[in-house]
Amino acid sequence: MAILVTGGAGYIGSHTCVELLNAGHEIVVLDNFINSNPESLNRISEITGCMFKTYSIDLLDKEKVDQVFEENDIEAVIHFAGLKAVGESLSIPLHYYHNNITGTVVLCEVMKRHNVKKLVFSSSATVYGIPKQCPISEEFPLSALNPYGRTKLMIEEILRDLYVSDNAWSIALLRYFNPIGAHKSGLIGEDPNGIPNNLMPYITQVAVGKLKELSVFGNQYPTKDGTGIRDYIHVVDLAVGHLRALDKVSNSTGIDAFNLGTGKGYSVLEMVEAFEKASLKKVHYKIVDERHGDAAVSYADPLKAKQELGWVAEKSIEEMCEDSWKWQMKNPNGYKNRIVDEENLHKVNSGDFFILN
Ligand code: NAD
Ligand code: UFG
Repeated sequence: MAILVTGGAGYIGSHTCVELLNAGHEIVVLDNFINSNPESLNRISEITGCMFKTYSIDLLDKEKVDQVFEENDIEAVIHFAGLKAVGESLSIPLHYYHNNITGTVVLCEVMKRHNVKKLVFSSSATVYGIPKQCPISEEFPLSALNPYGRTKLMIEEILRDLYVSDNAWSIALLRYFNPIGAHKSGLIGEDPNGIPNNLMPYITQVAVGKLKELSVFGNQYPTKDGTGIRDYIHVVDLAVGHLRALDKVSNSTGIDAFNLGTGKGYSVLEMVEAFEKASLKKVHYKIVDERHGDAAVSYADPLKAKQELGWVAEKSIEEMCEDSWKWQMKNPNGYKNRIVDEENLHKVNSGDFFILN
């Protein structure tokens, strides 16, 4: 029996694959590499010493997704595949709706056809919009500020409808706060395309000399130093959260949302300082205007995940910064330094899937 990991080559997916393999699960990865590099899959194998099947296909291709279920004994799905850039979603909303929402509908249709009804879905703290207060608990009102956020909100609703229609489903909606950090080995990490949108990859690229300075978006928020506060969570803690959610969906039916965060908030300037300490590098910055649509403060109440999944985030902000830095130093150009070559991949069935060797 295997766990299908959609988007398994991406940032959070690759870390989750490592934890799944280390825990003894068999996995099958499905990714179209629209925002990732197959080299991440080689690195997963390097870290774990495990081989696994990967399908290089698009989730929108129903026939091919169906074939994955025909060829493998899938027991549950962890669904990461999706586009995630807020700014881009404002320019190409239809593409985001099609990719994220239709992709999820296709996946669920195929799952249903194969009687696989256990699903862990990557939602986001973005579904809380601008929260009225913090910490944020799962019962807070939901809203969306941009097309990306709306895809997450709509998918949550679609999955609720699916459960209402058939109570045999078991679905965990994981609302991530701000994942940063990387695997201890420095072999896998976040590899953004072009100029990063998010704080930590921007900071690491300034520290490594690829970018000149960080623009801090506003210092007049009602916070301790005026800059925005977020709940940063180590990506490995987040990955482990998926294993706990998998246990939950494997042993019960229902649909439930869980915050995956630490419950602690750090300001942008605190993050700069923590990173400078961990890297011994100066991070130059300037204060600029606030970014439209940014909340002043966002951090989780993670109690529900503790009580119902038996999961808590364990890693400190220091460790998050050290691991982000290690990844950046070892891979100044992300995965692009070691482009995957044909010899690295043992192709089977003319590209239908490949096994890493
Ligand atoms: P990522 O872009 O690194 O990974 C997503 C993966 O999905 C990529 O490998 C991409 O190639 C693949 N993909 C996208 N569309 C696909 C399609 N149609 N068919 C097949 N593969 C497809 O992103 P990530 O940071 O690992 O995020 C994973 C999930 O978590 C996403 O759904 C994202 O929206 C959600 N999320 C991320 C964050 C964050 O800050 N990173 C926060 C909250 C939620
Ligand atoms: N920030 C800067 N400068 C930058 C980038 C960010 O000052 O160059 C600030 C932001 O204003 C914010 C904080 O750093 O106060 C964090 O910003 P990120 O862009 O890293 O993260 P967000 O909280 O804005 O959003 C992220 C993802 C969303 C996701 C959300 C919750 O981008 O997709 O976390 O999980 F929905």
